[in-house]
Amino acid sequence: PLIRLEDYRPSDWLIDTVDLDISLHPHQTQVRALLGLRPNPAGQPGAPLVLDGDDLTLGRVQLDGAALDDAAYSATSQALTVHAPPQRGFTLTIETTLDPAVNTKLMGLYRSSKVYCTQCEADGFRRITYFLDRPDVMSVYTVRLEAAKAEAPVLLSNGNLVAAGEVAGSDRHFAVWHDPHPKPAYLFALVGGALDKVREDYVTADGHKVELAVYVEPGKAGRAGWAMDSLRRCMRWDEAVFGRNYDLDVFNVVAVSDFNMGAMENKGLNIFNDKYVLADPQTATDGDYASIEAIIAHEYFHNWTGNRITCRDWFQLCLKEGLTVFRDQEFSSDERSRSVKRIADVRTLRTTQFSEDAGPLAHPVRPRAYKEINNFYTPTVYEKGAEVIRMLKTLIGEDAFRAGMDLYFERCDGTAATIEEFLACFAESSGKDLGHFARWYEQAGTPTIVATGRYDAAARSYTLDLAQTTPPTPGQPEKQPVVLPVSLGLVGKAGDIPLKTGSNAYAGDGLIVLDQPSVSVTFTDVMEPPIPSLLRGFSAPVRLELDLADADLLRLFSADSDSFNRWQALQSVATRALVSAGRKGADQRALSATAGALAGALDDFLREQALADPAFAAQVLRLPALADIAREIGGDVDPSAIHAAHRSLAATIGTPLVPVLLELREALGTGGHYKPDATSAGRRALRNEMLGLIAIADPARGTQLAESQFAESDNLTDRLAALAAMTLIPGAAREQLIERFAKTYADEPLVLDKWLMAQALIAEAGTLERVKSLMQHPAFSLGNPNRVRSLIGGFAANLTQFNRPDGAGYGFVADIVIALDRSNPQVASRLLGSFKSWRMLEPGRKALAEQALAMVARTPNLSRDVSDIAERALA
Ligand code: ARG
Ligand code: ZN
Repeated sequence: PLIRLEDYRPSDWLIDTVDLDISLHPHQTQVRALLGLRPNPAGQPGAPLVLDGDDLTLGRVQLDGAALDDAAYSATSQALTVHAPPQRGFTLTIETTLDPAVNTKLMGLYRSSKVYCTQCEADGFRRITYFLDRPDVMSVYTVRLEAAKAEAPVLLSNGNLVAAGEVAGSDRHFAVWHDPHPKPAYLFALVGGALDKVREDYVTADGHKVELAVYVEPGKAGRAGWAMDSLRRCMRWDEAVFGRNYDLDVFNVVAVSDFNMGAMENKGLNIFNDKYVLADPQTATDGDYASIEAIIAHEYFHNWTGNRITCRDWFQLCLKEGLTVFRDQEFSSDERSRSVKRIADVRTLRTTQFSEDAGPLAHPVRPRAYKEINNFYTPTVYEKGAEVIRMLKTLIGEDAFRAGMDLYFERCDGTAATIEEFLACFAESSGKDLGHFARWYEQAGTPTIVATGRYDAAARSYTLDLAQTTPPTPGQPEKQPVVLPVSLGLVGKAGDIPLKTGSNAYAGDGLIVLDQPSVSVTFTDVMEPPIPSLLRGFSAPVRLELDLADADLLRLFSADSDSFNRWQALQSVATRALVSAGRKGADQRALSATAGALAGALDDFLREQALADPAFAAQVLRLPALADIAREIGGDVDPSAIHAAHRSLAATIGTPLVPVLLELREALGTGGHYKPDATSAGRRALRNEMLGLIAIADPARGTQLAESQFAESDNLTDRLAALAAMTLIPGAAREQLIERFAKTYADEPLVLDKWLMAQALIAEAGTLERVKSLMQHPAFSLGNPNRVRSLIGGFAANLTQFNRPDGAGYGFVADIVIALDRSNPQVASRLLGSFKSWRMLEPGRKALAEQALAMVARTPNLSRDVSDIAERALA
């Protein structure tokens, strides 16, 4: 069924308290739930009580402690209905039996790698007991857990531990947890297993003593330090920046090895994919350290933006996710380099969200309807949702933003809120009408700004014409203008020209607000023809069409005061060249002029500036992603042509630069003993970016450097970079390094994931065969989401090989989606999302991709997850 935003109505019943008694057993877990119910004053009087269930086996049901007559209720595996419940407060006791060991969906309660754990967002709690499984039903939970001592010495749930002990006359023990904060069922969690613990004391800014703990698989405690360090830092940061203190006596983080997503913010008991907790220099890369820091922070920040204030319904998902991504991005920016973080985030936004927005799966930040909510945990809800918050802050200013956040925390604390309530706080704090701004939540698609500038030498004025359009997206053929904050500067010979104008659209501080279809702003006292630097800091999530000559862009690259736009200027030069050379049947020779200009600019930059900010330099050296070029081309896309253009540009830029690259690598050195901090990571990033370029420009040199880097390095970052460089160079040396890598890390599944992915990404015709044979490798398993995402997800992200002209890539992925759907629909439907850009392909591939999608769509007994994606992709 299609669930629609406008159909929302409050629950007829509320559940104030939940007492759970859960006796853990691998195949026969007994759950007794005692629900304290009452009619919702805002609901329909006299309505039946309909509790959600999913795959449940029901035992006894009691009302106020007395067995409920068979005729008084009906139960299926999907729902428990009490036909005529008393119109007053009462309790309902429900017994269910679960088999956690066979729960391969990894939703609800499951047991894998000997650990019991839960995932209840969005609707997994109904796989544990019958419940009003909707976020606006909030309850106070008390949870008694029992398990065999040997099997699960650690028993955790939300809130604070209130009792624990032995179960007399048995080999079992118990623990009782109480969470005083009312919460929706999706934030419930439990963990049981043999786990090692790393702990630390913490005192909040408002004086509350808290025990912080990170639980990991036995023997892995040595890898929990970075997560703990990140946790402490993000807690301090949230106190300082948002005035938010933690609110329980314990904060637990648990790492599990079979997990559908990154992590989950269950109240006081965050459960993580172990990939986002475990780190040491030998088994985690700089990228892993950065993601762990970001995700630990993300889940912790949810305690206020998500848990204390939750969502009224799942249409409001961005209320917690967009805002929390914004908060974690800000944290990482403060901990690391703000401009490099911004560049990295914008890269991700473009390759993931812009691509989603440009294809059949496009949807608004707040969707209007869904069949399967788990398919809406998307880059649009998360990353575009965060951009919307960022724009809001830009438009109303830092002070009104902070005041609005304070008001939101004060007013909505303890409630299940909506976007409207959130925006009302900022309308109040800023005194601005945000009605038009709210369109960002409703309208899908990436707007394009077309900008043109004219200098009038006689009048000494510069006029900027800006116009916006948003392309049609599924279900939204007509688009309205949105509110676009355009941060800008005019760059003259001596830097930024002071901006003077009488235009209403100019908000001061280098900000034009484009909220009409078009606007024209004339700046006065401009003594020389300037170069416009638009969308500084990427002030709005849009495409920009601004016809600047390469020479002007190269000038911005060297002279712009905004480092994001310095980076962007070079990307724009490269993108334009790749878009024209990457079109089907295009003449590649045109690339060489651009390549020469880029190489020249880079040569100077590398010699003069790279050492001062290596992390930024690494970003500068990296060409735009293939997927971005494909999207810019937009139709009749030939992935092979794009890849060929990309390689050829890299080789032509790289060749004259080899001497300076070698010199700079030498100057950077290996940095000695590994340290994960941003500065050290930045130096490695630059060295390794240069290695990749050398590998393309001079494969013999690249091979030699990669081999010695692999042999000499003590850390995974440099070793993996050596492997990645070698994947660009076909031949025996590559195969040897692949072998050697596998032997070195034979006992490290998370490292082998990277090894699987590096091979899945090889842009050569043999990759599909390689991937198929890697599926037989002991390191691979279709049952583990991380393995699937690395090997199969990696392959599906391989632009040329997934999009093989013979369609074999599509068929392969489609077959796996179908097979996987039987055990784990969520992982299967994510994988099917790899088809999101099929409509822009040239006719041959497009037809083959469509066939593969249609084959999935007509498979009998598909999950709702997979059928929803297949249908929308084909619609
Ligand atoms: N709320 C979690 C987070 O953002 C992610 C949960 C994903 N859930 C899902 N059903 N896909 O940290
Ligand atoms: Zn989140």
